[in-house]
Amino acid sequence: MKQQPLAHWGIDTSRLVLGCMSLGGEWNHDPYTPADVKKAEEAIDAALSVGITMFDHADIYRMGKAEAVFGEVLKHNPGLRDLMVIQSKCGIRFAEGKMPHRFDFSKEHILASVDGTLQRLGIETLDILLLHRPDPLMEPEEVAEAIRVLRASGKVRRFGVSNMNVSQIRFLQQASPEPFVVNQLEMSLSRLDWLDQTIHVNQKAGAAVHFGEGLLEYCQTEHIQLQAWGPLSKGIFSGKPAAEAEEHVRATAELVRQLALEKDTTPEAIVLGWLMRHPARIQPVIGTANAGRIRACADAGRQAELMTREEWYTLYISARGKAMP
Ligand SMILES: NC(=O)c1ccc[n+]([C@@H]2O[C@H](COP(=O)([O-])OP(=O)(O)OC[C@H]3O[C@@H](n4cnc5c(N)ncnc54)[C@H](OP(=O)(O)O)[C@@H]3O)[C@@H](O)[C@H]2O)c1
Repeated sequence: MKQQPLAHWGIDTSRLVLGCMSLGGEWNHDPYTPADVKKAEEAIDAALSVGITMFDHADIYRMGKAEAVFGEVLKHNPGLRDLMVIQSKCGIRFAEGKMPHRFDFSKEHILASVDGTLQRLGIETLDILLLHRPDPLMEPEEVAEAIRVLRASGKVRRFGVSNMNVSQIRFLQQASPEPFVVNQLEMSLSRLDWLDQTIHVNQKAGAAVHFGEGLLEYCQTEHIQLQAWGPLSKGIFSGKPAAEAEEHVRATAELVRQLALEKDTTPEAIVLGWLMRHPARIQPVIGTANAGRIRACADAGRQAELMTREEWYTLYISARGKAMP
């Protein structure tokens, strides 16, 4: 079986990643509560119980509280850290006083952000740090210097990017000897630009597609692990009432339900298995904090192996809402 691109870099991961954006309470600076810590503990337990060992954070999630409640769980269960691959992100800054919401790849901000993340998580080393969203003011040499310092100090093992196209990855990479090993992008049955881009190369229909040209192929060639954020499409194909949904969305949800019944699995496993059937060995970063739903995702890898080309195309075409060119 083809290995995960991360294995190429010596990182052994699960095929699914638990996204931790929903942990830590509300998106404000109010303190987190014991209930928030309990919710994080239940989500982590559920993930580990079904073999999900990789966890995705960002310094900004719930204003740092997602990392903080995760850190509380680690503090009370010290053995857990060794079972996990922990990834976080930096480079987005929320509005503060007169400062606008902005992106910041300055060395100063990157180093300060990682210190904050390590402190909140209560760990000494982050397995992977992603640059969250391209900063138009980024200077590759400055980013490379931040990466050098973080690697030399042992604070970060590996580096990656998120929401970047081929040119941006190459632009940053030419200044740094540290390879980027992850690119995290929005890819799902409801956000199909990642596939539509590949089938409309010489057609006007491709003009409305928003996905970097050649990005999937570049990442596969360079052993960059593609991770999909938003992979459950917030549940619209797997049980969330979709009264206002367009016809093709409702039809796709019904198709997912029927396939799940036929294959004796869950709708979540079909939705995620469809993403994972792609040869890039995409890692879905599931955003659910619900223990039952996390377990419902567990069969996705097996469904990816079982999914036929015809089933895969039937789901793609249904979710596109239009036939292939
Ligand atoms: N790199 C980036 O720029 C970026 C951007 C956004 C997110 N992310 C990462 O990707 C992860 C996932 O993203 P996401 O949360 O947007 O996507 P998602 O996995 O598509 O959606 C998860 C959300 O949908 C809800 N949901 C799923 N199935 C449901 C159902 N059947 N019924 C009701 N609600 C349902 C979940 O609620 P419950 O918790 O109740 O299940 C949760 O709020 C995040 O945690 C984060 O780690 C990265």
